[in-house]
Amino acid sequence: MDLPKGLAGVVIADTAISSTKNDMLTYAGYPITELIANNVPYEAVVFLLWHQRLPTNAELKNFRAALFAEMGLAPDFLDTLKKISKIQRHPMSLLRTSVSFLGSTESKAESNATAIQAKMLMIVAMIVRLRAGKKPLKARRKLDFAGNFVYLLTGKVPSAAENDLFNKVLLLHADHEFNASTFTARVAASTNADEYSCLTAAICALKGPLHGGANEQVYLLLDGIRSSGQTVAEYLDSRLANHEKIMGFGHRIYKHGDPRAFYLHDYAKIMAQHYDQMALFNLAEAVAAYMWQTKQLKPNVDFYAAIIYHCLGVPHDIFTPIFAISRTAGWLAHIREQKAASYLIRPSSHYTGVYDKKVPSELQLSDLTPRSFKQEGGAAL
Ligand code: ACO
Repeated sequence: MDLPKGLAGVVIADTAISSTKNDMLTYAGYPITELIANNVPYEAVVFLLWHQRLPTNAELKNFRAALFAEMGLAPDFLDTLKKISKIQRHPMSLLRTSVSFLGSTESKAESNATAIQAKMLMIVAMIVRLRAGKKPLKARRKLDFAGNFVYLLTGKVPSAAENDLFNKVLLLHADHEFNASTFTARVAASTNADEYSCLTAAICALKGPLHGGANEQVYLLLDGIRSSGQTVAEYLDSRLANHEKIMGFGHRIYKHGDPRAFYLHDYAKIMAQHYDQMALFNLAEAVAAYMWQTKQLKPNVDFYAAIIYHCLGVPHDIFTPIFAISRTAGWLAHIREQKAASYLIRPSSHYTGVYDKKVPSELQLSDLTPRSFKQEGGAAL
């Protein structure tokens, strides 16, 4: 049976949250080009995704204050996070466990999207600090979400320019219609599971290197080329000959280039210039040129994001959790939309096995159970 591989091109639901039509990412009617050009704050983008309209100035002020009020973690939760952080697991696994645990401690689990959005930042920041043996930091009232994002992750208050740059990075990652993690969240939401369960499912899907996990792999790729002593062409050729995917290239939707990468390229260059990482940026440029020349593949959102996060100074295994912070906005919008639609997502399969097999009598499998019905004399209940 000729099925669309991986649901490619299959439209599975209506949505008013975002669109990738004509190779342009649009949030509730606003192309990202428009939002970037107008320096729209990340908080306003979150509001836009949740309400499908931009906030008024008063609403934005209130929403920013509400987010700030939730930028803390309860002492019991923090204690558990400290224990979890000692386990040497990937931070995405720690984040997954933490969000799931948060869901079992929060009483307002069904409704408080603002708290979840704020606490996602706090959890990732806390994982970074605790793993580095540093004291947790408190969010600063005078900083916006992007400013607190930089401050809580790195301990330094960003300059106005850096604050602005990270606002745009967060904006560009906030939503992306029915990508793998959002679809996963919507499937869970369609069963009427609570928000935390849906988010935990989304985090699991984001972790994989074919999706959000690619940004960490991009850094490892560039680092691998640097330390290999090979040229870019030699290194990539040997991997392509092995049919390996080169991380940060290609996209299910964008076959002519990812509009987010267009911006992130420039932000990566600005960060690399500022943090003396131009050698890494130039290496990335050489990789991008070679991938275009040999495979006609362009960088996706994860390629230049890896350089930006490296320049920020966070460990490379924190890159994907950072992605999760901004994408929480989109996940929560889609969870809400799916729940409101109120139907179960349950596709059908094309079974390729055979039917009507009989259990061979010589196997006598029922005799091998610890307490078989036959051995106990087949007594009535
Ligand atoms: N490196 C090498 N070859 C690639 C790459 C890549 N990164 N991406 C696609 N191709 C090739 C495939 O091997 C395939 O070739 P073939 O037709 O000769 O078999 C062809 O291009 C089509 O690729 P598919 O994987 O079928 O395309 P699909 O739309 O299913 O995949 C995907 C999109 C999964 C993103 C893919 O491009 C990929 O694996 N990229 C690397 C991982 C990555 O960067 N993921 C992040 C995506 S953005 C995000 O999720 C946030």
